Amino acid sequence: MNTLAPSHPLNTRTASARLIRAYQGVRQDVTPVWFMRQAGRSLPEYRELRVGTRMLDACLDPALASEITLQPVRRHGVDAGIFFSDIVIPLRLAGVDVDIVPGKGPVLSSPVRTADDVARLTEIDAASLTEETFAPIIEAVQLTTAELGDTPLIGFAGAPFTLAAYLVEGGPSKDHIRARTMMHADPEAWAQLMAWTADVTGAFLRTQVLAGASAAQLFDSWAGSLSLHDYAEHVAPASMRALSHVRDLTYQVAGRAAASATGSGDAADGETARESAPETRNVPIVHFGVGTGELLKAMHEVGADVLGVDYRIPLDEASRRLGHVVPLQGNVDPAMLAAPWPVLEAHVRDVLARGVDAPAHVLNLGHGVPPETDPAVLTKLVEFVHAL
Ligand code: CP3
Repeated sequence: MNTLAPSHPLNTRTASARLIRAYQGVRQDVTPVWFMRQAGRSLPEYRELRVGTRMLDACLDPALASEITLQPVRRHGVDAGIFFSDIVIPLRLAGVDVDIVPGKGPVLSSPVRTADDVARLTEIDAASLTEETFAPIIEAVQLTTAELGDTPLIGFAGAPFTLAAYLVEGGPSKDHIRARTMMHADPEAWAQLMAWTADVTGAFLRTQVLAGASAAQLFDSWAGSLSLHDYAEHVAPASMRALSHVRDLTYQVAGRAAASATGSGDAADGETARESAPETRNVPIVHFGVGTGELLKAMHEVGADVLGVDYRIPLDEASRRLGHVVPLQGNVDPAMLAAPWPVLEAHVRDVLARGVDAPAHVLNLGHGVPPETDPAVLTKLVEFVHAL
């Protein structure tokens, strides 16, 4: 059991938000939209705020992190904020010497390559990550949700494999060869590394939800380099362990709110409302990876409610692979954002039509917003989807 206990009630203010209901499998009249990497270099107001501040320092400055999270919500009218942070933040807070090099990504001063390296790293007790360790994160989330009101904030964390790929390689890599070698050459050290990483990243995710985030997304961006067998054998148990840190988080919705939120009653329909029983709901968990079409089912089975799909397979095919019972998020090709509007519009219409195959759909990109994207295109895309 995670030692980070709820010190505040979970965020129930967003219980009826269309993003949250869609994540819970209830199809919405208007398709909710947000974009991975919506906060960041595509926004001039972001680039201005970031001048002179290193990426990880910005993440650990509560006022700055909160403001950067809010920028795309104000500008684009998206259905959610995604917390401005990075997957390596919990590693940094645990004491790992990691930095983010602009244009490159996370870089470690001492890669974790041997069983001895793993033993040294895992001497850091994940249970020593307390509310005090995460104080800047908690403050940033609280500042953000106070501003967001009824708009949900999505908390996120990196999945153990994607984090381990950085830890073992020491930086970005193409096929994560060293990490994939370690899982076979020394499965015990690998399992130890993955379990530790699961607890550290799980604590980061739990912290964000307890501080006020309404949903949680686990990014296993690099899991697409794994075979299904290696994923199931050497990765899935740790991803399940990471998600166990948030899987127990539920909240109660009063009968009236439950009825109106599902569209079976409204504020004027007092009788129906009062009669319906209170409902217990999970804080929804989204699981996303790049090139993970072959892994979708396994990624669902680790304890996700929603699957994020990249642009390589159509949503109707993803839904078929998941038995048509899992809400989906995705999967506009980021490359289309720079295409002429009619081309982008036709692509988005196709994505929406294929998304009907799933119980519910949240429109997003198949990966992050490219930094050179014209932000006006994103705003227009949100307006277009909301108006349909
Ligand atoms: O808007 C959002 O999506 C929220 C913020 C967010 C960031 N990183 C901010 C960021 C999120 C969700 C992440 C997750 C993240 N970080 C992932 C998983 C998602 C994915 O894109 O696959 C990964 C693999 C990382 C590691 C990482 N951090 C990379 C590869 C990079 C890019 C390096 C570069 O400069 O191209 C970062 C840095 C980073 N994280 C930036 C941002 C806005 C760019 C920093 C800058 O402005 O210089």
